[in-house]
Amino acid sequence: MTSPVSASTVPVSTVLDRVLVLEMVRVTEAAAISAAKLIGRGDEKAADAAAVEAMRAALNELAMDGTVVIGEGERDEAPMLYIGEKVGSAQGTGPRIDIALDPLEGTTITAKAGPNALAVLAVAEEGNLLNAPDVYMDKLAVGPGYPDGIIDLNKSVRENVEAVAGAKGVSPEDLIICVLDRPRHADLIAELRAIGCGIQLIPDGDVAGVIATTNEDTTIDMYMGSGGAPEGVLAAAALRCVGGQFKGRLLFRNDDEKARARKWGITDLNKIYDLKELAKGDCIFAATGVTDGSLLAGVKHRKDGTMTTETVVMRASSGTVRWVRGEHRKPR
Ligand code: FBP
Repeated sequence: MTSPVSASTVPVSTVLDRVLVLEMVRVTEAAAISAAKLIGRGDEKAADAAAVEAMRAALNELAMDGTVVIGEGERDEAPMLYIGEKVGSAQGTGPRIDIALDPLEGTTITAKAGPNALAVLAVAEEGNLLNAPDVYMDKLAVGPGYPDGIIDLNKSVRENVEAVAGAKGVSPEDLIICVLDRPRHADLIAELRAIGCGIQLIPDGDVAGVIATTNEDTTIDMYMGSGGAPEGVLAAAALRCVGGQFKGRLLFRNDDEKARARKWGITDLNKIYDLKELAKGDCIFAATGVTDGSLLAGVKHRKDGTMTTETVVMRASSGTVRWVRGEHRKPR
């Protein structure tokens, strides 16, 4: 069995050292607090816009030469935090950092006050995060403690389930698989039901779904199915820090999506990406809960006006995972 990421396997990045890990907490906290004001208001766009604006302002306070490589969309579709946008107050002089972000992962969840909405980002040295186009990605993930290569997108659903069950020492029927509840997953769900697995169907939020495989308290053994490719890179960055395995293959619905991928330098459109191809070298991942979920508690508003937040921030080179509970009081 492999162990979770050990501190010695990933070289420490001195570039990332200069952007304090804990500064990332401020950034995701700011986005979560802003988005939380729109929980349950039925307005996805307003919630997303609030998170984007707050995350952008917080990023711009950091002394770095940052570039958004995964963001709200391309420049002509997103006014802020678009792909290629420069963020940070030390352009040209500070450490060159690539940033993958989703200021509000789970816009519909937030609008409906459902579970597991997050404000999330991952940072790495320039060039170390896959510039994933905004297309779908077929995803397969398991948590730490399994032999390398246990999951394989070229194998059938049954073969993957049997391999993981065998390594865990249980029957395939004992596994719980997390899947996004979408019509496109009807065949996958039918196949898993035929095997006898339990399925946790989630309405949205597959970053939390993938990370759930790493947490024994959640009972989720595997993540399967397609979701956003940008969310795949974010989830992969988290697994780089806490351990686990992830495979992703971009899915294209038309020529325009293929052209987008080529524009970002992707030549092999059928490539299956491993964790380290999605997020290389040292990286930092941070997420703050917007609504309550399996990973994090959501933002709470106390009677005295204090907002409370819960954030997880992790780093690949150290394997450190910090859970940060914030109390944000009104200035006295
Ligand atoms: P948004 O926050 O952009 O709404 O994304 C939520 C999400 O559920 C992601 O977690 C997931 O990767 C993607 O949408 C799935 O896309 P689709 O809703 O098209 O199936």
